[in-house]
Amino acid sequence: MNIAVFCSGSGTNLQAIIDSQKKGYIKAEIKLVVSDMPDCYALTRAKNAGIKTVVVERKNYKVKKDFEAEIINTLKKEGIGLIVLAGYMRMLSEDFIKAYENKILNIHPALLPSFKGTRGIKDAFEYGVKVTGPTVHFVTVDMDAGPVIMQSPVKVTEDDTEESLAQAIHEEEHKIYPRAIQLFVEGKLKIEGRKVRILK
Ligand code: GAR
Repeated sequence: MNIAVFCSGSGTNLQAIIDSQKKGYIKAEIKLVVSDMPDCYALTRAKNAGIKTVVVERKNYKVKKDFEAEIINTLKKEGIGLIVLAGYMRMLSEDFIKAYENKILNIHPALLPSFKGTRGIKDAFEYGVKVTGPTVHFVTVDMDAGPVIMQSPVKVTEDDTEESLAQAIHEEEHKIYPRAIQLFVEGKLKIEGRKVRILK
């Protein structure tokens, strides 16, 4: 199976996925890294790992449809069977999601359905929750609302700062995302309505 990882930022999840693949834990090829941010560090990580990169910037297209058509073109050329969003800070359109229905995964740094959006860690910390943690889910049209594949609880202690909490959440992300990806690759994720059953 060919995987495309979409990133906009530092790419620590991409790195965890690359490392898992190199160790033979993820049994698929990371064919492509797609980014909307030409200077993001995720692209450097991809290049260091010898993975093809493509930058598609929204500002170069008048309408979102053309921007996404360019991405889909590239995905088709590379025979991509799984899209992994790893800190890709852009909403995909309904048409895009339908073109890859149930083949797009996302990681969110809070226990969904709490603290959706782009500030999942900050919002949970400021709310004062005692437990938070990352969620891996299938992407559907509604933001951060697709069927949940995996979650990992992270306790918030009295001594935590937003930064220390972020670090603890990222450590968990780097464990659960490769695991969820490998389950997808093995065909072990079965969507039943809102629920995802993990087959043995
Ligand atoms: C991760 O914490 C991920 O959960 C979050 O962006 C970060 C990317 O870090 N995603 C979202 O907030 C999506 N709403 P990375 O670039 O180091 O992997």
